[in-house]
Amino acid sequence: MEERKSWVIKDEAILEELLAMTRMTEEEKKVLGEMRSQAESIVGEMINAFYDRLLSHENTSEYLSDKIERMRETLKGWFLELFTGDYNDKYVKSRLQIGKVHVRIGLPVRYPLAMMDVIMEYGQKAALQSSQPEIASSAFRKLAALDIAIFNQAYESTQLKHLAKMVGNEMLARRILTQDDVE
Ligand code: HEM
Repeated sequence: MEERKSWVIKDEAILEELLAMTRMTEEEKKVLGEMRSQAESIVGEMINAFYDRLLSHENTSEYLSDKIERMRETLKGWFLELFTGDYNDKYVKSRLQIGKVHVRIGLPVRYPLAMMDVIMEYGQKAALQSSQPEIASSAFRKLAALDIAIFNQAYESTQLKHLAKMVGNEMLARRILTQDDVE
């Protein structure tokens, strides 16, 4: 198997690549930073919709138990941090860490990724209330793509790291993970 350039990009280093890939501009970052008050006005509604959805499905509600109140607060912080306008290494590091919290509880990645639907719905609502709705919408769409990629990266790198440790090196681990004919 041929080694790929993308394989050396790890942890926070994914930021630069992903910002370039989504073609996020400085103007879009600025508009996102200016959407904070719109985001604050809808965050309560977003949190209700988020947990209503998770609680109405048995396979997701079993993870929540008595933690809801604390989780509502952490989700609020996570949502509002989307609107700082400053997406730096610290931003990615903290979001990778949040992704890893979900890896640790044994949550299949499809659930957080599917829940980005709620985040996008409310991000779009905030964007439409902004003074530049068109730029705000496209900027938010790009940011959501970035955050989805970060969530997924947290899962992928954890699996890769564990497997590489077990089998002795990353290349072999990658080779194993690309096989789709497991009996
Ligand atoms: C867009 C998707 C999601 C976002 C943005 C999100 C955000 C967060 C944040 C910010 C935390 C706090 C992490 C920390 O303590 O540092 C957290 C914890 C948690 N999340 Fe999520 N979450 C998402 C999806 C889900 C889903 C689908 C479930 C399960 C059904 C879930 C279950 C949990 C649980 C159980 C914790 C607490 C873990 C613990 O402290 O024991 N999350 N989440």
